[in-house]
Amino acid sequence: MPGDLFRSPVIIAIVVAVLIPLVATIFSYNKKPKLRSVEVKVGGEAGHTRRNHRFLSLIETPWEGANTLAALFEQACSKYPKRPLLGSRTLIKSETEVSKDGKKFEKVTFGDYVWITFDQAFQRAQNTASGLVALGHDKEEKIAIFAETRPEWLIALQACFRQNFTVVTIYASLGEEALAHSLNETEATTVICDVKQLQKIIGMSSHLKTVKRVVCMDEENQRLDTNLSGKTNWNVSSFSQLEKLGRDTPSEPRLPAPEDLAVIMYTSGSTGMPKGVMISHANIVSTVAGVMTAVPELNHNDVYIAYLPLAHILELAAEVTMLAVGASIGYGSPLTLTDISNKIKKGTKGDVSVLRPTLMTAVPAILDRIRDGVRKTVDAKGGAAKKLFDLAYRRRLAAIEGSWFGAWGLEKLFWDALVFKKIRGVLGGRVRGLLSGGAPLSADTQRFINICFGIPIGQGYGLTETCAGATFSEWDDISVGRVGPPVPHCYIKLVNWSSGGYLVTDKPMPRGEIVIGGPSVTLGYFKNQGKTDEDYKVDERGMRWFYTGDIGQFHPDGCLEIVDRKKDIVKLQHGEYVSLGKVEAALSVSPMVDSIMVHADPFHSYCVALVVPSQSYLEKWAKQSNVQYKNFEELCKNKEAEKQIVQSMAQVAKEAKLERVEIPAKVKLLPEAWTPETGLVTAALKLKRENIRKTFADELKQLYE
Ligand SMILES: *[C@@H]1O[C@H](CO)[C@@H](O)[C@H](O)[C@H]1NC(C)=O
Ligand SMILES: *[C@@H]1O[C@H](CO)[C@@H](O)[C@H](O)[C@H]1NC(C)=O
Ligand SMILES: *[C@@H]1O[C@H](CO)[C@@H](O)[C@H](O)[C@H]1NC(C)=O
Ligand SMILES: *[C@@H]1O[C@H](CO)[C@@H](O)[C@H](O)[C@H]1NC(C)=O
Ligand SMILES: *[C@@H]1O[C@H](CO)[C@@H](O)[C@H](O)[C@H]1NC(C)=O
Repeated sequence: MPGDLFRSPVIIAIVVAVLIPLVATIFSYNKKPKLRSVEVKVGGEAGHTRRNHRFLSLIETPWEGANTLAALFEQACSKYPKRPLLGSRTLIKSETEVSKDGKKFEKVTFGDYVWITFDQAFQRAQNTASGLVALGHDKEEKIAIFAETRPEWLIALQACFRQNFTVVTIYASLGEEALAHSLNETEATTVICDVKQLQKIIGMSSHLKTVKRVVCMDEENQRLDTNLSGKTNWNVSSFSQLEKLGRDTPSEPRLPAPEDLAVIMYTSGSTGMPKGVMISHANIVSTVAGVMTAVPELNHNDVYIAYLPLAHILELAAEVTMLAVGASIGYGSPLTLTDISNKIKKGTKGDVSVLRPTLMTAVPAILDRIRDGVRKTVDAKGGAAKKLFDLAYRRRLAAIEGSWFGAWGLEKLFWDALVFKKIRGVLGGRVRGLLSGGAPLSADTQRFINICFGIPIGQGYGLTETCAGATFSEWDDISVGRVGPPVPHCYIKLVNWSSGGYLVTDKPMPRGEIVIGGPSVTLGYFKNQGKTDEDYKVDERGMRWFYTGDIGQFHPDGCLEIVDRKKDIVKLQHGEYVSLGKVEAALSVSPMVDSIMVHADPFHSYCVALVVPSQSYLEKWAKQSNVQYKNFEELCKNKEAEKQIVQSMAQVAKEAKLERVEIPAKVKLLPEAWTPETGLVTAALKLKRENIRKTFADELKQLYE
């Protein structure tokens, strides 16, 4: 690599060193930020509401007539009949490797992508739909799809829509109890699954009273059949048998209406059983319409890598959007994504190397992994290569953080060619945009991906209840830590949350609970009117609003930033929830603790705590342990004292059966009591989190260093 550097003429060096910073400074001088959303008058609760700057009114469909997913699919298929739609790789070999310590790993070798066209996908969906009717699935009954992401998933989904069957989806990671709950609550009679999930549901068949038919996407089900008979009275068939059955006994389609229920999507609740979110056809097509405008120049030449779970609204919305514009969807999996992914046999190619996608979606955990992988490779190389990489990275970071011009100028071309081109090969070399959602992305990772892969990241914010994205950052916005303006199919309203201290009248930015309104706001929770009434409101103009419980603020350019959560429940980096209040209640039982505030940063995997220790207990312990100190303040800074408090908390935590991640890994001891006068607690001695966080911002920062 360094050889290329010296091939480049001296001129480039001069341009880099002198001209570009100069021109960049001139251009960035006094440049006002672009306005990305504007305030708008709406109905419902008073607040500060904004809409996307490009559209006067909310858009509801991607084009006229595409008002259900069934219509959208049929029209896309007739528009792009011969283009490739769904691709998957053929398995060449699967072998088991044994590592030195005796662990077994499955390693696979995959071949090229094999594609079916829009036309063929439509035929298969049509046949599958007829097959379901022939199997005896009744029009009022629900069908559950329970499988890893693959072409048959999308075909099954479209098949159900062609017969106006409602589909039930469940996160595969939710566990058996949640699975039984969702199948039972929806009284699903047909389950379409892969062989891995089939094994799971066979194991729990005695709890699945409503299931009558099972369709397995893998042919291996034949092997399982023999085991099944006697255990259950299910009618088990394979997907290809189902398609053949439909081909032999065709049925007329029974197309849904926009307001009909398309999907009941079960998502993890932070407490208790998962909730089924009722998503209508109108909800999803409005999301598709919005996402189509948010991704610049999205068209039928795009190739999308599909590997996130389709039971997640982010992936479902993304794939349906690709289909709507005639793009190609190539399937992969998180474990086979790149050449160095765990399941890929060394020396063979990962999914993205073969597919060379132009677009992908990712959740922050995956982007963090990619970043760490690149860093590791660079560090392993060491020497001149690492020095050059570090220099290039620093230059690019300074440029991006300095000005827009510097971000995309000549110097970028220079470093890209010299250093970053090779890194881009990791994702196939053609990715032109990345969609991130599901959790907040750390600024560090966002910058790393921006620079090394040279691709913009569209960060979205949304929930299953709002049918995915409600905001989406624009590609020319290179700021970090924000989630962009409202998408063109949603209004975002901030409403006062006085008890939490967030007001829409706050300066310099309006703050408050985020409320989302528009055609993508879903119908509510299945068989849970109480919770639906709590979280959803319909205003006097008939618009639906969802109260997210998240706290946000609008920047002057109209972009949203998520700043807090109303319910003090924090999802840590690896997805575990920590309920701050619950943990505090448990830990304050310790006689060593006078006051405690647990703090959890979603960008880290552990939580920390600010503790006002009991002076008498701590001093007693100090005496017993021969710890010398001048005053209580000094004692609080003593590392041994800290250790003692952590130990004492760990003990009560164990008795209270807290999870490991819920126990603060580090504490900061504070000598001064929290009284209402200090403004840190209410008159009833309830914590004022925001004030405490602000007062001890430095201490909290140190705890995470
Ligand atoms: C929000 O609360 C502030 C302070 O109490 C008040 O001045 C303002 O009118 C409230 N705004 C709305 C929209 O309710
Ligand atoms: C399942 O149902 C279909 C359609 O009614 C029937 O043809 C098939 O024989 C059944 N299979 C089993 C294993 O019962
Ligand atoms: C299934 O639902 C019924 C009522 O709809 C309930 O009585 C039963 O306990 C549920 N079973 C499971 C396993 O959740
Ligand atoms: C069939 O069931 C038996 C015991 O229930 C089990 O040992 C065996 O692995 C099963 N066979 C298959 C193909 O799953
Ligand atoms: C679709 O199915 C639902 C539930 O069975 C039904 O209420 C609705 O009327 C159906 N839609 C159409 C257009 O037939």
